[in-house]
Amino acid sequence: MEENFKLISQVELKESLATTWQAPSNIALVKYWGKYGMQLPANPSISFTLNACRTITSVKATKGEPGFNISYDGMPKPDFASKIKAYLERVVDYCPWVRNYYFDIDTHNTFPHSSGIASSASSMAALSACIMDFESELTGTALDYHKMSFLSRLGSGSACRSIQGAAVLWGAHKDTANSSNFYGVDQTQLLHPVFQDFQDTILLVDKGEKVVSSSVGHDLMNDHAFAKARFEQAQKNLTTIKKALQEGDLDTFIKITESEALTLHAMMMTSHPYFILMKPHTLSIIDEIWTFRKETKIPVCFTLDAGANVHMLFPSAYKTELDELMNNKLASYCQNSHYICDEIGTGAKKC
Ligand code: PMV
Repeated sequence: MEENFKLISQVELKESLATTWQAPSNIALVKYWGKYGMQLPANPSISFTLNACRTITSVKATKGEPGFNISYDGMPKPDFASKIKAYLERVVDYCPWVRNYYFDIDTHNTFPHSSGIASSASSMAALSACIMDFESELTGTALDYHKMSFLSRLGSGSACRSIQGAAVLWGAHKDTANSSNFYGVDQTQLLHPVFQDFQDTILLVDKGEKVVSSSVGHDLMNDHAFAKARFEQAQKNLTTIKKALQEGDLDTFIKITESEALTLHAMMMTSHPYFILMKPHTLSIIDEIWTFRKETKIPVCFTLDAGANVHMLFPSAYKTELDELMNNKLASYCQNSHYICDEIGTGAKKC
C-alpha cells in the first residue's frame, strides 16, 4: 500500500519553485490514541475540520544541495528544525526529487502561538500541501490529495485529517468502505445540514506546554490494560457517530463525542505511568455546559484534546445564547479570559 505513494516516474527538475498554502487544525470526535509502525493508528478516528485556527506556510525550493531553513513570521525558528528534518527524511522515500532541493520555509499561525492549541496538525498539513503542489508542478499531474494526507500523517498522525473535507475519517474502519490507515478520507457527504455549520468555541484553560506529549501518550497505549477494549469501542463509536452525523441526531452525537473525550483522558489516567492533563477549570467548564444544557435543552456539548482546553461544540442556530454563556460565565475559567470562536471549515487551500 505505502508503495503506491512512491513517485517512480522521472521528473524534470526546475531551478526554483515557490508556493504558499494554508491548512486548518481539526478536532477529533472519535479519538485517535495509540499508534504503531510509521504513524499508523491503532483505531480509526473522525474529526471536524476547523476554519479560524490555521497555519499559513510559504516554501521556496532552490535546486542544489538538500537542506532547509525554517522561520516563523520571518524570524528564524530553530526549535521547529528537528521536527521538519525528521519529516523531510520520511518524505524523501515517497518524493525522491526532494533531495535535489534546498527549502526556505516560512510559517505563521492564525491562532496565538502558545495558546495550548497544538499547531502540529495544521503546520504538517500546510507543509505537505506545499510539497505536493511542487510535485504536481514537476510531474505535470493533478494535485494528489490522498498523497497530501499521506505525507501529513508522516509529520503528525492527526494532520492527515486537515487536508480535505469538513469531516474526515482516518484509519481502517470495518463499516467505511474506502477507509485507510494511511490517509484521511473526506466524509463531508455524510453531514446532515445541522452539522454543516457547526461551531467550536475553544476555551483556553491552560496555555502552557503539556506535561506529557502526545507521542509519549500514544506509546503508553502499547501495554495498556484496556487497549484492546478501547480500540474495539472506537470502531463501534465511529459507526454510531457516522449514523448520527447523517441523520442529524444531536443526542447521539453528544453522547458519543463527550464519552470519547472522557475515554481519551481515562486512558491517560489508567496508563503506566498515569497522568492527568485536565485542570480544575476543565471540569468546572464541563459542569457548566452540562447544567446549561439541562436547563435550556440547547444541544451543546464538549470535547477535549490531549490537554486542558475545552472545545465547546454546538449548532450555529444557538450562537447568540452560547456567546452569552461564554461572556457571562465561561470566560472566567479561561486563562486571561481567552477563547477562540471557530467553526467547521473545508481543509487546505492554496493562497
Ligand atoms: O496527531 P498526534 O500524534 O498529535 O495525536 C493527536 C491525538 C489527539 O489529538 C488526542 C486525538 C486526535 O484524534 O486528534
